[in-house]
Amino acid sequence: MNLKDLYIHFFVSKGHIQIPSAPIVPENDPSVLFNTAGMQPLIPYLMGAEHPYGKRLCDYQKCVRLTDLDSIGDTTHHTFFEMLGNWSLGDYFKKESIEYSFEFLTKVLEIPIERLAITVYEGDEKIPRDEVSANTWKSLGIPTSRIAYLGREHNFWIPGSSGPCGGDTEIFYWRSKDDIPEYFDPEDERWVEIWNNVFMEYYQTEDGMVTELAQKNVDTGMGLERVVAVLEGVDDNYLTSVWEKPRKLLEELSHLPYEGNEESMRIIMDHIRTSVMIAADPAGIKPSNTDQGYILRRLIRRAIRHARKLGMDVLSDWDTQLANTFIDLYQDYYVELKQNRDVVLNVLKQEKEKFNRTLEKGLKVFEKVSTNTDSIDGETAFHLYDTFGFPIELTKEVAAEKNLKVDEEGFHKMFQEHQEKSRTASVGKFKGGLSGNTEIETRYHTATHLLNAALKKVIGPSVHQMGSNITEERLRFDFPCDHKLTEEEKSEVENLVNTWIEEGIPVTKETMEKNTAIQSGAECMFIEKYPDMVTVYTIGDVSKELCGGPHVQNTSELGHFKITKEEASSAGVRRIKAILE
Ligand code: SER
Repeated sequence: MNLKDLYIHFFVSKGHIQIPSAPIVPENDPSVLFNTAGMQPLIPYLMGAEHPYGKRLCDYQKCVRLTDLDSIGDTTHHTFFEMLGNWSLGDYFKKESIEYSFEFLTKVLEIPIERLAITVYEGDEKIPRDEVSANTWKSLGIPTSRIAYLGREHNFWIPGSSGPCGGDTEIFYWRSKDDIPEYFDPEDERWVEIWNNVFMEYYQTEDGMVTELAQKNVDTGMGLERVVAVLEGVDDNYLTSVWEKPRKLLEELSHLPYEGNEESMRIIMDHIRTSVMIAADPAGIKPSNTDQGYILRRLIRRAIRHARKLGMDVLSDWDTQLANTFIDLYQDYYVELKQNRDVVLNVLKQEKEKFNRTLEKGLKVFEKVSTNTDSIDGETAFHLYDTFGFPIELTKEVAAEKNLKVDEEGFHKMFQEHQEKSRTASVGKFKGGLSGNTEIETRYHTATHLLNAALKKVIGPSVHQMGSNITEERLRFDFPCDHKLTEEEKSEVENLVNTWIEEGIPVTKETMEKNTAIQSGAECMFIEKYPDMVTVYTIGDVSKELCGGPHVQNTSELGHFKITKEEASSAGVRRIKAILE
């Protein structure tokens, strides 16, 4: 049995129900591009909604993390990975969770106890030091010298900047052939983290306020690739059995050994696998210049570039062969791969053809502009993007090979100006026939920010956007709240929004660095989603949010605001529908 099967089998034997992996593109959460952790699709249930399968769940979840994109090529990073997870939704807590993990590691995987070490949360002014976890580990035979108490930076987990969260205990494995030191030093990289058990009993808002959740949950996550590497005793994840077939195929296709060509080969394998997974996802993502489509485009194009670097004939069917290998490997676990094989192969083929048509030309232009200079200016970088489809990352990579700098800020400025222009153009286009559609939606966008601000005032600061949807008929807004809104609360919210509309508050837009925006207190859901340069919309001192817009220029343009419906979206989450009259 492989690790996924062993894991599921073990937790099912402990009364857990296996739930299917959710799609990589979140179904009801426009605030993130991809699921980045197994718990992400479970957020409503961690907050109290009743899960149809009960209180003990386990799965393997398809995840994509983009924070590590630039690190791909080394021994440990991947853009796509599978997370093994088990959850208690208000059922068992620390003791049982730790006992299950210990039993799985030492009995099922037969890891010797001497190779394990543990970190637990040292606590802070709001949350006590986690002696329960430490004592449980000791009772199982882990010596005190192998338990370290660490702070928030290491042993506290939260999805992004707000959400269900809590202290965690992390399990480390001694990966090296060196003698195992008696005292565990978490800084020593020979200890690698293999499992994270988060005890989610709190909810943290954007402004750092921590409240207790209605129930105490367990959320554990184990990165499959890393554990396989550990168990197989290799220190390059790409040398495990998981990658054996694609690695051998790539060696054949390129007529080159893996050794000596690791970086490009890892990038090709990683990016093709992730592209296969994204393209097969039920969301039907196609390469494009925005959101998930842009990521897919970047991944495919970067893989092609590295195939060229290895001297491969990129127009041959190397990508189809690699994609087929990945589909064969994973299709029994993710049925959408089997169903969408042709879709995936077509996406790859078409994007490759498209890219190839421009790549040659683009590289020639790059050669020309990069002689006799030590940097590529923003305008040139934008020209390469706009005319030759070079993502900025590709320009940076080619430039780095020649020790050239790229004016990224200049590029982003041009990029935004360009978007502004095409937006204005499309508004103009719609003005004649489909009169007003875009304008109405724009008004609803601004009304959504006002509603969010009003709910924070009336219900409390823990309110934030969990989902939003706008049509020309209405806005819809989901937010965490533990009760049905009373008539008074609803009319208070309506009155506040209408007062702000009557006050005629100007709406201002600024472009700034993401970190500056966050520090200035701008509200944002999941920080990973945003590029380095972001737009922040401010409505007087009522609201400040990271948002792509568009918005009206003054709240007086909105008309009269009215809530038409208030209902449960799931337990702990309320949904408001509202109109502008
Ligand atoms: N949510 C935690 C993580 O992603 C544990 O599942 O590490």
